Amino acid sequence: MAKTVLVAGASRGIGLEFAVQYAADGWNVIAGCRNPAQARSWLPPSVDLQPLDVTDLSSIDALGEHLAAVALDLVIINAGVSGPDAVGFVAPDAVSFDTVMHTNVLGPMRLIQTLGANVAAAGGVVAVLSSKMGSIEHADAANALTYRCSKAAANMVVKAASCVFGPLGAIVIGLHPGWVRTDMGGPNAHLGVTESVEDLREVIAGVSGGSNGGFFDYTGRQLPW
Ligand SMILES: NC(=O)c1ccc[n+]([C@@H]2O[C@H](COP(=O)([O-])OP(=O)(O)OC[C@H]3O[C@@H](n4cnc5c(N)ncnc54)[C@H](OP(=O)(O)O)[C@@H]3O)[C@@H](O)[C@H]2O)c1
Repeated sequence: MAKTVLVAGASRGIGLEFAVQYAADGWNVIAGCRNPAQARSWLPPSVDLQPLDVTDLSSIDALGEHLAAVALDLVIINAGVSGPDAVGFVAPDAVSFDTVMHTNVLGPMRLIQTLGANVAAAGGVVAVLSSKMGSIEHADAANALTYRCSKAAANMVVKAASCVFGPLGAIVIGLHPGWVRTDMGGPNAHLGVTESVEDLREVIAGVSGGSNGGFFDYTGRQLPW
């Protein structure tokens, strides 16, 4: 039977590529997007497009209701924003802080709370797109301070969720996709989106119970928090 994946934030970049590649592989793909009508024109026709704004908790709840009876083999929490990119140690304004934290932290929290049981029922995987910039051990600068803090917090979301949903049968992991040429990564990034997502899919396919609560890059290397 075909497996089912939900990609949260699938309109562009890495999320779009996940949806395209899994659909090409015969998976049932549910793509959550802020503007599904627009994304319809570039996502394969087989993809089930659902409205999703991860900063709007009622939108996450509505998706949860829509998927209430669906066992999910994989949930990819990809939606993310980078926020201010000041050089040096610069605190953001409150609006920028709220936008980044709501998208990158509260979104994954609420999505996992809502859909974790669907994944556990399938013995599936929750993969949160984090970033090496959220690794406290790897931190060597203060640029993109809000983004760094949001991804460090997202890493805690992964670890905490793994403690709850791991024993129920799910595997919850954080992923660093590399520096990827997308709107967020920019044109000088090292990796093409196709290559990054191919590699991440291999990492996801290779996880086992021992991976629960881990943080991995696109090569499969475990990263320190
Ligand atoms: N690119 C990199 O080098 C890199 C490196 C490390 C980690 N990452 C992480 O990988 C993930 C994807 O990055 P990307 O490079 O593909 O970024 P991107 O090109 O900027 O795309 C971001 C995606 O997130 C969606 N999104 C943003 N806010 C949303 C919201 N409130 N609700 C639903 N969807 C929302 C966007 O949808 P709209 O089209 O509606 O805006 C878009 O589909 C992010 O979590 C990012 O932090 C990226």
